[in-house]
Amino acid sequence: MIDAYLASDRTALNTVKIMSGPRPQIANGPLHPRPLIALLDGRDCSVEMPILKDVATVAFCDAQSTNEIHEKVLNEAVGAMLYHHIQLSREDLKKFKTLRIIVRLGTGVDNVDVKAAGEMGIAVCNVPGYGVEEVADSTLCLILNLYRRTYWLANLVREGKKIAGPEALRDAAQGSARIRGDTLGIVGFGRVGQAVALRAKAFGFNVIFYDPYLPDGCEKSLGVTRVYTLQDLLFQSDCVTLHCSLNEHNNHLINDYTIKQMRPGAFLVNTARGGLVDEQSLAAALKDGRIRAAALDVHEQEPLNLSSSPLKDCPNVLCTPHSAFYSDQSITELREMAAGEVRRAVVGRIPDSLRNCVNKEYYVPNPSHGLNAAAAAAIKRGHEPSTMNGAAVAFSGGFQPHTSVHSTTTDLHSTVAASMAPSPVFSAMHAAATAHIAAQAQAQAQAQAAAVQQQQNAADSNNLPKPPAPQTPTSSESEH
Ligand SMILES: NC(=O)c1ccc[n+]([C@@H]2O[C@H](COP(=O)([O-])OP(=O)(O)OC[C@H]3O[C@@H](n4cnc5c(N)ncnc54)[C@H](O)[C@@H]3O)[C@@H](O)[C@H]2O)c1
Repeated sequence: MIDAYLASDRTALNTVKIMSGPRPQIANGPLHPRPLIALLDGRDCSVEMPILKDVATVAFCDAQSTNEIHEKVLNEAVGAMLYHHIQLSREDLKKFKTLRIIVRLGTGVDNVDVKAAGEMGIAVCNVPGYGVEEVADSTLCLILNLYRRTYWLANLVREGKKIAGPEALRDAAQGSARIRGDTLGIVGFGRVGQAVALRAKAFGFNVIFYDPYLPDGCEKSLGVTRVYTLQDLLFQSDCVTLHCSLNEHNNHLINDYTIKQMRPGAFLVNTARGGLVDEQSLAAALKDGRIRAAALDVHEQEPLNLSSSPLKDCPNVLCTPHSAFYSDQSITELREMAAGEVRRAVVGRIPDSLRNCVNKEYYVPNPSHGLNAAAAAAIKRGHEPSTMNGAAVAFSGGFQPHTSVHSTTTDLHSTVAASMAPSPVFSAMHAAATAHIAAQAQAQAQAQAAAVQQQQNAADSNNLPKPPAPQTPTSSESEH
């Protein structure tokens, strides 16, 4: 075995070993191909690209299931970003041969089997906190609509109904209720639950919450009341709003049985996860008035098709399309934060360099901690990282140039990139390598494009149905 030590960044104690013999040659840093990062269920990478393009090749799949993901991504992607439009079960995860990092563009990770991922050496991260204000504001918007009937009254006006005189107004606005003095019950007192509590207090709600996982004391800092069973919360609340994460213990938390524990004529709001509510039971309760009205941003089946939903005949339900988190500002923040986490994975160590890894408890470290090893393995067909003895390969963060391969990188994301840049001393040490890296990266991109073309040609000639090829956004479509 011949060991060669390269690119040693003494300041960061970085040592890279290149090994020869039966194993594929692996090099850290820019001297080997850039890892492939794929956005699985979307196509717009314009925010992510500037943050990642000097350290990774970014592709998008726009898939709704792993059956629609191109072989190249399944075989070679070492990083995946996804919204909530695709599920990654254990079986789905097995299809990815070199995956090391998944970043959920959002908070909930219920569409990824995080335990299975951890056991396969794939770190799963989320982006907590990006849209807390938006979700809390949307929740209050829905609660206010239930109490003040704004949505239904506006619809009457739009339909041309003339409301003339006190009797007509009473008929139209009947059911509108006073907020002050009512009790709002919050299920799940995390980031969003607490933000909702603060807002609800300003409207005069008496706020109570149930969250079995929190230590005592948070009720004191926010001046709200804590109850210790769901039943207590349901008994006491005029309006119940759900803000817990969906997990294996709370699917259909709101069901026939728990609805009977709610106050007759209470309101229900759900901006957390659709799986928390049994929609069949809710529909029945809405129809017979046990629940006066409900507002749902999230649904058991998404995207929601109201005409085939159990809720289709319920006039007292207000549905929005899982949009509570959305604002023009929050979506950009979300994507920047997600790309930043992917970048930390590329230039650092998994999981130590990650900020929001949610499956550390299940994570079985892969012999090669960095994405770079996986990328190198992907290039060498037949040598998947799991079969590769990378134990002697020490990958370290740092040696990833921030000088862009493309001249357009210096844009509004440069601040984000700069905050993750290596030290000036380090950058200077490797400045000479930059031009070489740029040439290599371009050659790599061309080689990848040629490989995809080759696969497509082969599939064409066999007349095989094939999923759409992953696409690497061009700089013109991806730049701001
Ligand atoms: N609709 C949207 O656009 C949107 C956007 C972001 C987040 N969300 C969802 O909102 C919810 C809250 O997000 P967050 O950022 O506040 O999460 P968080 O992790 O900060 O808080 C969730 C809280 O729920 C508690 N919890 C878990 N199981 C519970 C149970 N059975 N009963 C009571 N409490 C329980 C946890 O202890 C935790 O404190 C999540 O479900 C998330 O997926 C929705």
